[in-house]
Formats: sequence, structure tokens, C-alpha cells
Amino acid sequence: MLIAPSILAADFTRLKNQIEEADGAGADWFHLDIMDGHFVPNISFGPMLVAATRRVTQKLLDVHLMIENPDRYIPQFIAAGANLVTVHAETCPHLHRTITLIKDEGAQCGVAINPATPISAIKMVLTEIDLVLVMSVNPGFGGQKFIPEVLPKIAKLANARSSSQSSFHIEVDGGIDKYTAPQALAAGTDVLVAGSSIFGASDISRAIADLRGGDDVGN
Ligand code: DX5
Ligand code: ZN
Repeated sequence: MLIAPSILAADFTRLKNQIEEADGAGADWFHLDIMDGHFVPNISFGPMLVAATRRVTQKLLDVHLMIENPDRYIPQFIAAGANLVTVHAETCPHLHRTITLIKDEGAQCGVAINPATPISAIKMVLTEIDLVLVMSVNPGFGGQKFIPEVLPKIAKLANARSSSQSSFHIEVDGGIDKYTAPQALAAGTDVLVAGSSIFGASDISRAIADLRGGDDVGN
């Protein structure tokens, strides 16, 4: 199981400290949410913040592009330090072309699907990609409530992975905390994105340990 804190929920006035704290507490990847105000209603940040994060940690940078026309910006994000770039199936009419672009630019490739998007939208590319990102909220904001209806979709993807030659990660994003993480993991998720439950906590290390199920003190 891998944990990818989403820096969208970090305190940007103390970003370096917060990344270093999460890094030291065993964060496996860092997740960066790129929002364009078109595909999603919110605007977040761009390649400059990816480059700044790259200067603070050696961990894998998992860049989640919630933007229209991602092909136009993919090279910039990879040049800024993205190791894994995820695009939304809903924004890519030529998905194979976009996947090829990401790989040609030297990064790993993920494809995300919104809660209402079926697996059939990405079935044809499952052998080509490194990760499927199952959104467990409608993208655009941190701090939303986990949508449990996505759990059967995760289970189906996990079955498809084990019954084929594929080895893609299954990542879940949105509303993940110590209560929803076990449900997502039981369904077959292997990468947990978590924003509010990590950076909104008073103790980042404790929050990461809780997500790993290491909380035997309980509260
Ligand atoms: C939502 C983003 C998420 C967000 C998760 O559109 O893709 O990565 O940061 O935040 P939480 O964990 O607070 O739901
Ligand atoms: Zn995200």
C-alpha cells in the first residue's frame, strides 16, 4: 500500500516544512492537483509549484491533471519534475495519443475516471498505462465526502488486473481517511491519495500511521 499526500490541503505558507514532515513520516509519493477552472470549477496551481516540490523531496511526484487539453501542458509538467502524469479520460478524445505523449516525454502514465464514468471508458488502454485513478469524489475540491458507490468499480478493476497481464496501480482519490481507507483497500486499491486527513491533522505522522492502519491507540 502506498500513501500519496495531496499538497492541495497543505498550508502553503509552510509548504516546505509540511512536505518534509510528510516525507519523514513515510509518505511514499506526493500528489499534486492541477485544476484549470474549466474541466473543474476550481483553479489551483501549475508547473511552478511542481518544480518547487521537486526541490524539497526526492519522492515520486504524482501529478493529477484536472485540465482541458492536457496535451498542451504535459511536457511542461514533466520538465518541472512530474514522475507520473495522470489525465482524465473525460478530457481526452484521443486517449492513446495522450498516453503516448506522456511516455515519450519520459514519465509514467495514469488515467483518471470520475465517479460517474464507467470502466469501459478506459478498458482499451489498461495494458498501456501504469495507473488507474478512481475518483471517489467529483474532482475540484479537497475535503469532500467519500462516495462509496465507487467501491464496486475498484473491485472490478482489481479483477481485471489479476485476470490479465496488466500490473497498473489502482489509486483512489477523494475523502480518504482512516475510516474510508480500509474500504478502498479491501476493494483492491493500492495507492491512497489523502489531503485533508493528512495536512488537516494536528499531527501529520500520526495521520499517515492511521491511514496505514497502525493506530492501535485508537480515538
Ligand atoms: C480533488 C483532488 C484530490 C483532493 C483530495 O479534486 O483530486 O486529490 O486533494 O482531497 P481530500 O483528501 O481532502 O478529499
Ligand atoms: Zn487528485
